[in-house]
Amino acid sequence: MTKKIEFPSNFLWGSATSAYQIEGSPLADGAGPSIWQRFAHTPGMIHDGETGDIACDHYRRYIDDVALMRRLGMNAYRFSVSWSRVLPRGRGQVNPAGLDFYGRLVDALLENGIEPMVTLFHWDLPAALDDLGGWLNPDIANWFADYASIVFRKLDDRVKMWVTLNEPWVVTDRGYLHGAIAPGHRNRFEAPIAAHHLLRAHGAAVQAYRSVGKHRIGLVVNLEPKYSASNEPADREATARADAYMNRQYLDPVFLGRYPDELGEIFGDAWPAWPAEDLALIRRPIDFLGVNYYTRNVTRCDANAWPLRAAPVRQKGATYTETGWEVYAQGLTDTLLWVMERYGNPPVYVTENGAAFFDAPTVEDDRVEDPLRIDYLRKHIKAIHAAMQSGVDLRGYFVWSLLDNLEWSLGYSKRFGIVHVDFASLKRTPKDSAHFYSKVIATNGLVLNEPAHAAP
Ligand code: BGC
Repeated sequence: MTKKIEFPSNFLWGSATSAYQIEGSPLADGAGPSIWQRFAHTPGMIHDGETGDIACDHYRRYIDDVALMRRLGMNAYRFSVSWSRVLPRGRGQVNPAGLDFYGRLVDALLENGIEPMVTLFHWDLPAALDDLGGWLNPDIANWFADYASIVFRKLDDRVKMWVTLNEPWVVTDRGYLHGAIAPGHRNRFEAPIAAHHLLRAHGAAVQAYRSVGKHRIGLVVNLEPKYSASNEPADREATARADAYMNRQYLDPVFLGRYPDELGEIFGDAWPAWPAEDLALIRRPIDFLGVNYYTRNVTRCDANAWPLRAAPVRQKGATYTETGWEVYAQGLTDTLLWVMERYGNPPVYVTENGAAFFDAPTVEDDRVEDPLRIDYLRKHIKAIHAAMQSGVDLRGYFVWSLLDNLEWSLGYSKRFGIVHVDFASLKRTPKDSAHFYSKVIATNGLVLNEPAHAAP
């Protein structure tokens, strides 16, 4: 007998992307440069000197991409707005052509029955604001709220789901602590400051939304459950530090109005005392939480791992993706349950989930076989269903990503798309995983006892 899991009839099934990763034409129609434009054009920062100059050319092909989503049956789409298209210098003069692009995109989505979820900041800070200190300048909370209000006024009549920031942890950890992504700083003193101002900016945008917008606004974080490698106190304490740093650093202030104690231990004299009124702003109620989930981490103490003194342990026999992340779907269930229990069961969307695997570089007969990605998606869709069965208020799921795209400093070397992009011709070819996902959406569920690698 076939065994099937089913989702609620109003469940959202979509895909997610971000502006710099897919749009191309970064300076078109009056747009200003972002820090990613600068970073990508600085030799040595991105794999093989690649840039987002063309990317997937979505800026010019968005109509076709929306039609593709419709063909796959998606009823939601999460994308981000490029701040420097709307405000070329980050503040001041608005660029109407840049703002109009997003208006046209939203209209195309709605005409095709696809609900937009709009992220206001997915890492591409206007370069002009970086010149003023970027996330280190306390004024950025107001700059962000002003920019957000411009976009709210333009689109809130049609957009019902808003996201302030995408993954602030990555911005601070990779952008300000380890220097792997833009703006490329490596500074223990800057990271906590950038994190705090990101959260203040989030709070200021939520506050602005309450007077300008009529729908729902939330925050997107990347969560990675940490499991202790052993019962030794040193490993358990390292695990608690890793968890505080990655998972609680942003959510505790937003939901509980305080930072985790471990942050003082991690950052030492670089951890400042923040004013109570900042935490009141950060704690403004949100309408939903977006969770990006890719992998878990088994953690052990390692005195040389700066600054956490915690290191991941590779798992024997596990499958690892092309980005070196363990496939571990139970971690998604655990994460959603943890959010429910710790933060009072807020409405949640899985706003990103997916994997980079090696896909056949040439597209034969318009088919791209990606059985490992199908297996990944199948397991994680089962995992979200299990979480819902245990009471998690999960409203939708967005696969990362619609298209193969610019994987930040890894360039085009890692393919996360369920749709293959030939970066020479820009031709899109749905992979087998896209057909698999399409079937999940069409049946609003999943047959459980199909062989793991069944053809779609
Ligand atoms: C980000 C995406 C990124 C993906 C895969 C997330 O951290 O939001 O922009 O491409 O993960 O690394």
